[in-house]
Amino acid sequence: MSPSTASVLVRSKLLLEPGDDLFMKSKTCRLDRFISQNSAFKLSDVRLLLAQKRILLDGQIAQSIQQKVTQFTQVILDDQCLQNNQPLYVLLNKPQGVVSATTDLKHKTVVDLLEHPKKDELHIVGRLDLNTTGLVLLSNDGAWSRKISLPETKLAKIYEVTLAKPLTPEYIQVFREGIYFAYENITTQPAHLEIISDYHARLSLVEGKYHQVKRMFGYFQNEVLALHRASVGPITLAGLELGQSRDLTTQEMAAIEAHCVV
Ligand code: URA
Repeated sequence: MSPSTASVLVRSKLLLEPGDDLFMKSKTCRLDRFISQNSAFKLSDVRLLLAQKRILLDGQIAQSIQQKVTQFTQVILDDQCLQNNQPLYVLLNKPQGVVSATTDLKHKTVVDLLEHPKKDELHIVGRLDLNTTGLVLLSNDGAWSRKISLPETKLAKIYEVTLAKPLTPEYIQVFREGIYFAYENITTQPAHLEIISDYHARLSLVEGKYHQVKRMFGYFQNEVLALHRASVGPITLAGLELGQSRDLTTQEMAAIEAHCVV
């Protein structure tokens, strides 16, 4: 099997598409390679540039050809800035009928809703279905997106769910033990269900499989009539109306970091 066939299979199995959070690659490069790709100097010139203290990485004199340059490292060579990208982290309150994609021929996309000047650089961190409302994060920082999406980080995503049939205490135990998804051949991670009333519940998940909430309630043949993502870790939608967005604050970024187990 060719690597490209394998990658298509893996992507279709996990239901990922280019642009999805887990598909994003970290853009990290060795300093000598970065300089040779972004200036007139050759790979073999970089040791001399270092000895002459002509390269600054994030304001510090570079020391080694092996230093890592990420997409957000500021790189200055002599007085020329070779790279100065800012990481972006955006919070959106998604309305119904808006698609979690960067482009779509039929529906308005979450990116269409943003007024952000650099919105075309952003990817979506954990999609919501067309009719799901609530919290969507967008970023240009693939490593961050991957980290907060990994089940291992145990970052809780809280969903408010309205159901067609009454809930019973059995749901709580079944969700805690995990449900087998034959398509992916996985058992869902332990999930916490809080029953609010006969038809309303709050579900906390640490992962985001395709249509996961609907499929979990589908185990009981109970249709999800309305779904809203209220929070991701410590981040809530407080003060954001449907359709509104804003940058995450430094405090929110630090709080997410503190909530990530790994
Ligand atoms: N689970 C679903 O079924 N749909 C969503 O939009 C999000 C989680």
